[in-house]
Amino acid sequence: MLVNSKEMLLNAKKNHYAVPHFNINNLEWAKFILQKCNELNIPVILGVSEGAANYMGGFNTISGMVKGLINDLNINIPVCLHVDHGTCKETCIKAIDAGFTSVMIDASRHELEENIKITKEVVDYAHQRGVTVEAEVGHIGGSEDNITSTSTNATLNDCLILYNNTGIDSLAPALGSVHGFYKGEPNLDFETMKIINDNIDIPLVLHGGSGIPEDKIRKAIECGISKINVNTELQVVWSKAVREKLQADSSVYDPRKIIGSGEASLKNKVEEIVKLFGTRN
Ligand code: 13P
Repeated sequence: MLVNSKEMLLNAKKNHYAVPHFNINNLEWAKFILQKCNELNIPVILGVSEGAANYMGGFNTISGMVKGLINDLNINIPVCLHVDHGTCKETCIKAIDAGFTSVMIDASRHELEENIKITKEVVDYAHQRGVTVEAEVGHIGGSEDNITSTSTNATLNDCLILYNNTGIDSLAPALGSVHGFYKGEPNLDFETMKIINDNIDIPLVLHGGSGIPEDKIRKAIECGISKINVNTELQVVWSKAVREKLQADSSVYDPRKIIGSGEASLKNKVEEIVKLFGTRN
């Protein structure tokens, strides 16, 4: 069942666990993640970056593909189809019109006032159509979709101003996590995370979930994180398995056998992450 993120994130916030957001990069990833989460009986968010959307053909293609998989594979868990880091209103509108149930408008490269203006326009369009909206305050840096940027941490004040002026459903405050690989140990600002959580009653989102040690993931959930985004960790295990397949079998040419050889590794990683993110009631 395709749903927006509202119920699943509020339930996670109330019961102190995190909903996994897995980025999808192709049909196989969507299929393997859906099958594993269905087997584990947990709600899941499938995140689609603009780069991944372009790669796969566009939002209509992805929406049709995910709806088809849910139907053909008898997926019975709540599934949220979400735009990850939509950079402008037009991207979010395109995805919503194509059937996405949730969007992240990431106007964090703008000044706060402009971020609020763009975010509010997206909220107005999305909420009329039952679609949930996530926004970013501060800036989460690192490397994603081949774009590298520097982080700026969020403040409670900026989070409050954006929240009060937009009506967003979830908030991603930049608090030290980065996209892609970490240089050294991730330095998350748990104190500010907890203060933001104590002062703003919508679910908080942690981006850059790959490479954060388990104790820090648990601490982030304790401090109020209700959704954690993961992409790189799945990319790493999947590409390792595919590389091994190609090295072990130089005569393989069927793309299904090549791409599909990452299935077990990807599914095992999904299970490990889901278990780390906590228990659902
Ligand atoms: P990682 O690739 O570091 O897991 O980050 C994913 C993410 O935050 C997507 O928004």
